[in-house]
Amino acid sequence: MSHTEQHRWAEQTLAKIQRKTFHAIQQAKDLPFIPYTVKDHQWQEGPFDGLCWWTNGFWPAQMWQLFAATGEPQYLAEARHAETMLDQAFADFDHLHHDLGFMWRISSGFDFDLTGDPKRRESTLFAANLLAGRYNPNGFIRAWNEDKTGWVIIDCMMNLSLLYWASEQTRDPRFRLMAQKHADTVLRHFIRPDGTSEHIVVFDPETGAVIDKPGGQGYGAGTVWSRGQAWALYGFAISYRHTGKQTYLNAARRVADAFIPCVCKDWLPDCDFRQPPEPIVKDDSAGAIAACGMLELAEVLGDTGEAYRTAAYAMLRAMEAQHADWSEAYPAILTHCTGAYHSQERHIAMVYGDYYLIEGVCRLLGNTKLRW
Ligand code: GLY
Repeated sequence: MSHTEQHRWAEQTLAKIQRKTFHAIQQAKDLPFIPYTVKDHQWQEGPFDGLCWWTNGFWPAQMWQLFAATGEPQYLAEARHAETMLDQAFADFDHLHHDLGFMWRISSGFDFDLTGDPKRRESTLFAANLLAGRYNPNGFIRAWNEDKTGWVIIDCMMNLSLLYWASEQTRDPRFRLMAQKHADTVLRHFIRPDGTSEHIVVFDPETGAVIDKPGGQGYGAGTVWSRGQAWALYGFAISYRHTGKQTYLNAARRVADAFIPCVCKDWLPDCDFRQPPEPIVKDDSAGAIAACGMLELAEVLGDTGEAYRTAAYAMLRAMEAQHADWSEAYPAILTHCTGAYHSQERHIAMVYGDYYLIEGVCRLLGNTKLRW
């Protein structure tokens, strides 16, 4: 498929996204929570943690992607509505965790990148300082709370973007140095020789020794949770963009090269690439995130990255053709996202699935004003 045809598809899909989002905003704009999923055709909030729920940056991030693409004020207004709610989570410190990047880099951070509003910069820097406070000097960022003092998860590769941004804003290298140490640890202990990734590694918080590699949101210990692979792929590509370190680019390519053969049969990722053949459990969010990571790789690699662009387009197109709901009554787009293999959240809408679909479409159109 030529770039021109990909561009045409992306233009048509963006038009559909805009029509859909107009109705989705009408449903969201008076809600006291930030959309997470859909039940009975209505937006639902995250299952626990209230405003601290890890996905609460993705709805405003959708708005900023569409604002950057179109300049329409409705998107700015809805993003600000969500950001005002989100900032209340700072008062609930005990429930905040490492997903501060997912929550603030792409909400207030994108807002500041596009509008220059100093209050939005302040919120984003505050979040970056909280994330830096989770750094363990053994070289990792602690993921979760309570007794999980040495638990690290692959998802955090995406949160590093907040730290890179903070160093670029403040000209203080500490944030970037923490991010690099974390990425180096992940490279050493998560990425397997075949290019797949662990979801969770448990370290001794005193010594940094590896204690365990338990199963997480995939099928089980030692398997290949597809969304985790996507976080690794895009996360290392982002670390490469911010540091220029070749080892991160190589890691992103290895993960991408392992991902493509697992998905190329129908371009719709299973939830776990080693799950049993039955039941069929898909995860659109994994495909959308991996597509954005592959488009990032294609951009930095130029002609040698064409295979990544082709795979990214194939995934976006397959999920749009087979798993998108474009009706006005249903507020989300993708219908086959899965929270975790063993959860009840199978084949549902997820705000982050839609976010990465939108980012992928915008990337295909060459809109790269907003970067992680
Ligand atoms: N970051 C949590 C997840 O990917 O489900």
